[in-house]
Amino acid sequence: MSNAYETYQRARDLGTPGPEAGTKLITLTIDGDEVTVPEGTTVMRAAALHNVHIPKLCATDSLEPFGSCRLCLVQIEGMKGLPASCTTEAKHGMKVTTQNKKIADTRRGVMELYISDHPLDCLTCPTNGDCELQDMAGAVGLREVRYGYAGENHLDAKKDTSNPYFTFDPSKCIVCSRCVRACEEVQGTFALTIQGRGFESKVSPSQNQPFLDSECVSCGACVQACPTATLSEVGLIEKGVPEHSVITTCAYCGVGCSFRAEMKGQEVVRMVPNKDGHANHGHSCVKGRFSFGYATHKDRIKRPMIRETIHEPWREVSWDEAFTFAAIKIKSIQAKYGKGSVGGITSSRCTNEETYLVQKLVRAAFGNNNVDTCARVCHSPTGFGLKATLGESAGTQSFDSVMKSDVIIVIGANPTDAHPVFASQMKRRLRQGASLIVLDPREIDLVRSAHVEADFHLQLRPSTNVAVVNALAHVIMSEGLEAKQFIAERCDNEGFRAWKEFILDPVNSPEHVFEETGVPPEVVRGAARLFASKPNGAIYYGLGVTEHSQGSTTVMAIANLAMCTGNIGREGVGVNPLRGQNNVQGSCDMGSFPHELPGYRHVSDAATRALFGNEWGVQIDANPGMRIPNMFDAAVAGTFKAMYIQGEDVAQSDPDTHHVTNALSSLECMIVQDIFLNETAKFATVFLPGSSFLEKDGTFTNAERRISPVRKVMEPLAGLADWEVTQRLAQALGYPMSYTHPREIMDEIARLTPTFTGVSYDKLDKLGSIQWPCNDKAVNGTPTMHIGEFVRGKGSFKVTPYVPTDEVTTRKYPLLLTTGRILSQYNVGAQTRRTENGKWHDEDVLEIHPHDAEQRGIDDGDWVGLQSRAGETVLRAVISERIQPGVVYTTFHHPFSGANVVTTDNSDWATNCPEYKVTAVQASKVTKLSDWQMKFAKFTEEQLDHLNRARQPEKVG
Ligand code: SF4
Ligand code: SF4
Ligand code: SF4
Ligand code: FES
Repeated sequence: MSNAYETYQRARDLGTPGPEAGTKLITLTIDGDEVTVPEGTTVMRAAALHNVHIPKLCATDSLEPFGSCRLCLVQIEGMKGLPASCTTEAKHGMKVTTQNKKIADTRRGVMELYISDHPLDCLTCPTNGDCELQDMAGAVGLREVRYGYAGENHLDAKKDTSNPYFTFDPSKCIVCSRCVRACEEVQGTFALTIQGRGFESKVSPSQNQPFLDSECVSCGACVQACPTATLSEVGLIEKGVPEHSVITTCAYCGVGCSFRAEMKGQEVVRMVPNKDGHANHGHSCVKGRFSFGYATHKDRIKRPMIRETIHEPWREVSWDEAFTFAAIKIKSIQAKYGKGSVGGITSSRCTNEETYLVQKLVRAAFGNNNVDTCARVCHSPTGFGLKATLGESAGTQSFDSVMKSDVIIVIGANPTDAHPVFASQMKRRLRQGASLIVLDPREIDLVRSAHVEADFHLQLRPSTNVAVVNALAHVIMSEGLEAKQFIAERCDNEGFRAWKEFILDPVNSPEHVFEETGVPPEVVRGAARLFASKPNGAIYYGLGVTEHSQGSTTVMAIANLAMCTGNIGREGVGVNPLRGQNNVQGSCDMGSFPHELPGYRHVSDAATRALFGNEWGVQIDANPGMRIPNMFDAAVAGTFKAMYIQGEDVAQSDPDTHHVTNALSSLECMIVQDIFLNETAKFATVFLPGSSFLEKDGTFTNAERRISPVRKVMEPLAGLADWEVTQRLAQALGYPMSYTHPREIMDEIARLTPTFTGVSYDKLDKLGSIQWPCNDKAVNGTPTMHIGEFVRGKGSFKVTPYVPTDEVTTRKYPLLLTTGRILSQYNVGAQTRRTENGKWHDEDVLEIHPHDAEQRGIDDGDWVGLQSRAGETVLRAVISERIQPGVVYTTFHHPFSGANVVTTDNSDWATNCPEYKVTAVQASKVTKLSDWQMKFAKFTEEQLDHLNRARQPEKVG
């Protein structure tokens, strides 16, 4: 029997999806009761909505009805036989009987057949209590199996345990196809098929391969859909059926999927994507669903540590001693070198409330504006470019909006790897017939994958985004395809005239830029015509847009393109930055930039300063503080001496590693707050243990501006949540903070920030999530921005001339290196490397085109030295035609690969966002590691020794 918790969860499965909202209502009779439902509802769903749960096996409400198991039979007046309720549409006036002797006998007969070919090991089955087959046997009253168990069966079928997160036991399979359909309909990977017919039919991953070797991306949708123990989470098998659950939000990417953390005591049994989650609707990727083991990994540091210099061992101390030590250092450094000699970095992995507190500590307790965030190195150009053109520094749409798009442009983003759940939704729309245009130097998965093919792939050379986006707009304007009425009514006409004159200049034509971009003019023209010809065109972009010397220019060029085609201000359209980290939107919203207080208000504005100053009881400096690169420069120059870094690994993630590590080594005091001794923490003198997302309350804001709850499911392993650590540090510095719960921090944010006025924990509990702005004008939030009017009034076209980057290829460095992510790893890999995800990606490799490899005598798997003017590292080669000749590609998830040793200090002209995506390099076959890698290995060994001395067994509690 299921426990009460499981029964409750299952009762929420309505059997089949509901019809589109807004349809008319019909009334039918079910077991004598009148039931009113939207037209298009199935009989099964109508009954479930009326709390009558018809037995079922092949149906579930996340999948289209299939009608194969014949368990859900009902009687319908005027219809012959016993129709399947999951595939029969409810009609007005219909009279349905869900239970009588004939129905019961038939259902029992069906169940008998299933059970006769099923192991009878319920009591010892690890998923006993989490099995729909078991429940249905009970529901239909099956007591005996007349056929016996001796006949031909599948009970000896071999179990597949290749996937580290779930097992596949075919002996328990009832061939209901739910897994196959989940993989197709929900995930869009098409990794599973039913092979064979009749008795021979069986589920098969790819070409009858083990799951791990197949095309499966381990999203878990099939596991969730499986009604038996055939596909089962390892966590469930090892820990047993959960006892309670807590709704929280994934701490990985900017999709912000909602999950039920299913618990036994303080232990997470499994993470189940929340069907009511507005960003994910019950879907997830491998990271959110399975890769949470890092939270309790043995490498977690649970006690504060201090030391005088980075060359000596750590000393474990009490929280009080650590805070006092840190505060004395900060104060003495400020007394000696001035107020501006210290600063802080907020974390895009921490909650809004925690980020808000760090910037408040810097501005109020440090007394300067030297605060910045990792968005500096990813989406700062988005903030700049969208604010300048549309008036708000954020994406314009909900993810669901893509289901109304007719044509989608994806620029410099690889959603199937970096934003997988949104990619699945986008692929669903593409399978429904929307067109796709991809701008990317690589042939990313979206260009060609199962049942998805881009109409145009503009395989541009890295660094030429502005030229290509301008060329698209040039075609639209020169062929008169622009949205004239939208432009006249919604946009600033003077700005438009200037832009029109600029964009029509033949220097922006596809023919003129061809040599530079490498994109054939007819491809640009075709893509431009396609985009302008469809009613709803949406643009999605990622770090392949922002991380360039012209990142901000490209963002503005994208906004121009959307405005000139009238694609802003309704569903199905818009400009949508795909944010990398879970809370990068939130960290920007919360005032993490040195020139902006929360809500993107400039520190030079006296009224804003007075507002915050009065609430905080301090005078806020009117001068913008230092950005991260300025802090590093000043550290090397000897004028910047101390930093407080919360949850950010700049030593691995920021460009030009030599410069960054020089800067960090030059500091007199570095306070790192993190869950692991990451690369940055190896340069720290104070280590404050952080808490994972499972150990605290707060909120994250995803790429759709959606504020979602993060809820504590276990106590902080080190005793304090991150917000408490910042509060205690502020107190030690003599600045009073006395919040008793993060909800009070959110109340303060709402009091001070016009776009958050209506946000509260009570409203979050009621609505599940809220998209800002949320205030008197939009009490329940704003899914789509700029409806009727732009936030800035009129949309502002900006002239966006293409300026080639200084980072050009030369005889010495003839290749262009560009970087990206991979599905199984996340950012610097600190979390995912401490999970089983290494099974998919245990090292960063260098993708190189066969032509370039052959020229250099490089074979697949060879060690390749990669040199740039910044530094040199060594990676293993993978020869691939996904990349064009002259371009090489790598990821940056492993510190030892040193991708950022090679990237340079070039950056965006407006925001200093580093030009990660373009580095001129040479690649050559080598036989030994680079000097940097040797030094890195030695330094790491030293630092681990310093750590291990602090963590002597007798001291570890
Ligand atoms: S593995 Fe599960 S979902 Fe797939 S066919 Fe078998 S019983 Fe159905
Ligand atoms: S885990 Fe996801 S990708 Fe893999 S087979 Fe299941 S549904 Fe398909
Ligand atoms: S798509 Fe992003 S938010 Fe969703 S489960 Fe995966 S990593 Fe988490
Ligand atoms: S649930 Fe309706 S036929 Fe299987």
